Amino acid sequence: MVDLDVPTETAADSRPVLELRDVHAAYGQIEVLHGIDFSVASGGVLALLGPNGAGKSTSLRVASGQMVPTSGCLHVLGRHCNGLKPDALSRAGMCTLPDGRGIFPNLTVTENLRLMTFGGSTRAQVEELTFARFPRLSERRGQVAGTLSGGEQQMLAMARTLSVEPAVLLLDEISMGLAPMIVAELYELVAQIAAEGVAVVLAEQFAATALGVATHVAVVVQGRIVASGTPDALPDDLADAYLGGVAA
Ligand SMILES: Nc1ncnc2c1ncn2[C@@H]1O[C@H](COP(=O)(O)OP(=O)(O)O)[C@@H](O)[C@H]1O
Ligand SMILES: [Mg+2]
Repeated sequence: MVDLDVPTETAADSRPVLELRDVHAAYGQIEVLHGIDFSVASGGVLALLGPNGAGKSTSLRVASGQMVPTSGCLHVLGRHCNGLKPDALSRAGMCTLPDGRGIFPNLTVTENLRLMTFGGSTRAQVEELTFARFPRLSERRGQVAGTLSGGEQQMLAMARTLSVEPAVLLLDEISMGLAPMIVAELYELVAQIAAEGVAVVLAEQFAATALGVATHVAVVVQGRIVASGTPDALPDDLADAYLGGVAA
């Protein structure tokens, strides 16, 4: 592993909210994570970058409790969480943006939000929080979700996730299939969300935009972190070698 720069957490909150330590994970007999280490603090945005098949999604699956590591540790808010089920982890503040965006296409924006009010928040609270954060959704509150643009659907999915006020937000390839301008807008929201104190991990192949909001970067290749540090410490040759040059 190339140590580019020791990640320096802010003095205000140095305790990692999420930490993976020497995590190994396998599908059946086939080990695909061979010792993954990363951590993210409140307000931090960790970009997990790397080529297709590197192990980014698997790392997020371990973090969200969808996969149990074969060895190594998952820590959330300093608590050892190996083996905790996704619902228990989500009660501990872990939030994943689900695959397929996790919205109900035949329901309106407001109806989609209404389905998030099981956690104790009132419908008014969820709507207030969401529409303040995503004014675009406010304009479209009566629209059927399936007719929103791809970027707006992604915003709605994020809004649904955030309405539970998570401590950690895990985002897997949110830029996939979206126009660069929309991606830039979504990342702007990610930065805002982090500024509110959420710890964010985003897995991306679309490295250039991800690096714009990341406070830390970890490059995953073949189930290992090959480099980590601050985005400005990521050397061009590494970006060229592992990210197809897109991070240049
Ligand atoms: N459900 C699965 N069953 C078996 N192997 C899988 C599964 N999902 C991913 N893999 C394998 O695990 C490795 C890591 O994949 P993944 O974590 O999805 O990488 P990334 O998200 O970086 O593209 C790859 O070799 C991939 O083929
Ligand atoms: Mg993936």
